[in-house]
Amino acid sequence: MKLVKILDTTLRDGEQSPGCSMNISEKINLAKQIDKLGVDIIEAGFAIASPGDFTAVSEIAKVVENASVSSLARAVEKDIDAAYDAVKYAKKPRIHVFLATSEIHMKYKLKMTREQVLERAAKAVAYAKSKCDDIEFSAEDASRTDREFLVQVYEAVIKAGATAINVPDTVGYSTPEEMYDLIKYLHENVKGIENVNVSVHCHNDLGLGVANSLASMQAGANIIECTINGIGERAGNAALEEIVMALHTRKDKYNAYTNIDTTEIYATSKLLSKITGIKVQPNKAIVGDNAFAHESGVHQHGVLANRETYEIMSPETIGLKSNKLVLGKHSGKHALRDRIKEFGYIVDEEELEKIFVEFKKLADRLKLVSDADIEALLYQNRATEIPEEFKLDYYLVYVGNTVTSVSSVKVTNSKGESKETTAMSKFGPIDASYKAISEVVGEQFDLVDFKIEAITGGTDAQGVVTLKLNSNGKTFNGHGVGVDIIEAAITAYIVAINNIFYDRKLTQKTMEENK
Ligand code: KIV
Ligand code: ZN
Repeated sequence: MKLVKILDTTLRDGEQSPGCSMNISEKINLAKQIDKLGVDIIEAGFAIASPGDFTAVSEIAKVVENASVSSLARAVEKDIDAAYDAVKYAKKPRIHVFLATSEIHMKYKLKMTREQVLERAAKAVAYAKSKCDDIEFSAEDASRTDREFLVQVYEAVIKAGATAINVPDTVGYSTPEEMYDLIKYLHENVKGIENVNVSVHCHNDLGLGVANSLASMQAGANIIECTINGIGERAGNAALEEIVMALHTRKDKYNAYTNIDTTEIYATSKLLSKITGIKVQPNKAIVGDNAFAHESGVHQHGVLANRETYEIMSPETIGLKSNKLVLGKHSGKHALRDRIKEFGYIVDEEELEKIFVEFKKLADRLKLVSDADIEALLYQNRATEIPEEFKLDYYLVYVGNTVTSVSSVKVTNSKGESKETTAMSKFGPIDASYKAISEVVGEQFDLVDFKIEAITGGTDAQGVVTLKLNSNGKTFNGHGVGVDIIEAAITAYIVAINNIFYDRKLTQKTMEENK
């Protein structure tokens, strides 16, 4: 059986997609989970893009235990320097250099000739190699590149020291047959290809990202680049969970395996959705809410008689457990710890203590606390891990269908200074509260997304608020959880503001360090 290595680019290509930006602590949490999932390579970001990106890549490099950690770099020295400076802390550092090779990209984007591209690619890889052993080279838009030229480019970068050549279907244009042919052609024509890894990176514009990746693997690619939930530029990248489960479920067909621990798939997908506030569609393969639901009578009957009548994979294989009610107000800390462990999170004593306090409060208000409730508490705790520049002391709202809403909030800043303000809004208590908070903070924020949903059914269900604020062209997430949805909405707003202030501090710090 052949080993197919998985390169996860959720934190780079995935993060580039609209609405998917993450702050540093969210990126670190996700990177740890992706490492636990068992991927071989984590593409942690594009270090040169901004001081925040640089810091995120270097912090991820420090915490990842098993996977190689890579940073993207254009084929220029300053990008490669930044990429290396960020990944050098990793146990297994890697640099990913890319340069476009298709006629259309060379002519209109790069304004370079073939000769110049060939020379630049080899020079950049040689420069990267002088700093780091493991170098990936991507010929951007490879699938629309003249094949003979592509062979020349890959031969040149292999000579210059590349350890992996990547074949991106950048615009998601190829079909599986074309990708199969291309990879086969490269294997037959590129001198030295047998000494390097061959990877593919397929976008999903025609919904063929996964099929193209699998076809490439059958033609000889041994690394597949993909993202959790298939997030990424435009229609996204090939989805990691679909590739891994196709290989796992159809071993008979593919005769290949990955190093992924499939039981971590569901937790990883959920974590990403929680961080970005972007849920997968219900019928999404593998991780959608309906992926293992059997609705029709005929199917239910079949599944009850023998699961395999309609189930090709078991939900447990991806780590999916049913959303049963498990704990209540008499449950102790041990039971809570065991439950948390079951759905894949590792908590230390300090974190457990904090969550236990919140759990008890919740159990006092609800009779039984579901797994989803506990996960929400845990996630809320992690979302607020970043330093609190502002903290809510209390709020009070006056609301009714025939009156203008009024909200008074008292907020304390990190210097211990408290301020109370009152604001009014004809758009309701949440808008009034946000106005009051902005006044206390002394800054207006651009609210670009706001979602509210109940975790479980019932009027006593916890509400989850997920929102996004724009500040200086960047988007920041905020999350709030609570039985009281106004409080959850206020918490989410303050969390997003804290994210903004934290990012500003980090950016400032990185700029000073790199002066
Ligand atoms: O889609 C693409 O071509 C990329 C490259 C940088 C590999 O993301
Ligand atoms: Zn891409």
